Amino acid sequence: MKKLRKVIEIIDPVYVMEGAGVRLKRSIATQKLDYLDPFLLFDHFGSDDPEDYIAGFPMHPHRGIETVTYLLDGRVKHKDSMGNQGILEKDAVQWMTSGSGIIHEEMPRPYNGKMEGFQLWVNLPATLKMTTPHYQEVKSSQVPEINSEGGAIVKIIAGEIRGVKGAVTEIFADPMYLDVNIHAGSSFEQPIKPGHTAFAYIFQGEGTFEDLDPKSEEKETIVQATKLVIFGDGDYIKAESKKTRFRFLLISGKPLNEPIARYGPFVMNTTDEIEQAIKDLQNHEFVK
Ligand code: CO
Repeated sequence: MKKLRKVIEIIDPVYVMEGAGVRLKRSIATQKLDYLDPFLLFDHFGSDDPEDYIAGFPMHPHRGIETVTYLLDGRVKHKDSMGNQGILEKDAVQWMTSGSGIIHEEMPRPYNGKMEGFQLWVNLPATLKMTTPHYQEVKSSQVPEINSEGGAIVKIIAGEIRGVKGAVTEIFADPMYLDVNIHAGSSFEQPIKPGHTAFAYIFQGEGTFEDLDPKSEEKETIVQATKLVIFGDGDYIKAESKKTRFRFLLISGKPLNEPIARYGPFVMNTTDEIEQAIKDLQNHEFVK
């Protein structure tokens, strides 16, 4: 019999300042939740006030990780040490594998007064920490969108639903990254690979995750925006909305179970490797 993944923890994001002064909501890489293997960080940025983000993220390095940006609104101007540059538009995705080292700039800009998006950091295994940097940019029109059986509208950024493959592929963590939009009276059921870490980030409305426990009175967990929900192990999750629109990201990936040493934008396995990264940066040998 298939096993339901229950909600095991609900996390409130905390406000932090990042980059050159960007105010954002952080749910992973906090005191409460340092690491959700293989996910190192999860940020939700955006505001009606450009002062909250206009300073952006000027040139900074990364090593040993992947950064994933999904933009809901506004634009992000970017350029990097591989020679990529451009403007990320609404509903676009940038999946950047820093590997041995990349230096880049990410500058959020309003469009029609709006700006909102997410950044996720995915860890790389020891064998790929120093891999060649790699970059996938996916435009809105390249992200498949399907209607689920329960009536939800789902954008498949990574992973697969009923044979429809997501826009981003060939990622080590074997990730699933879905944008799930459930209208009132609709539901959504989704298999998630057993053993993979899984969480949902609720950013609009309110709904429920089924929590079938014969010993419990509660058959569901009610959640509202803005929260991060961690699921226990199992085969699938089920979400439903009774009254309002319920929109969340559903993200899963294969845990690495490796030691981590992190220092800002560098995430390696040992402190020696972190020191090497700092040395390489000082000696202008960071970008291989
Ligand atoms: Co960055």
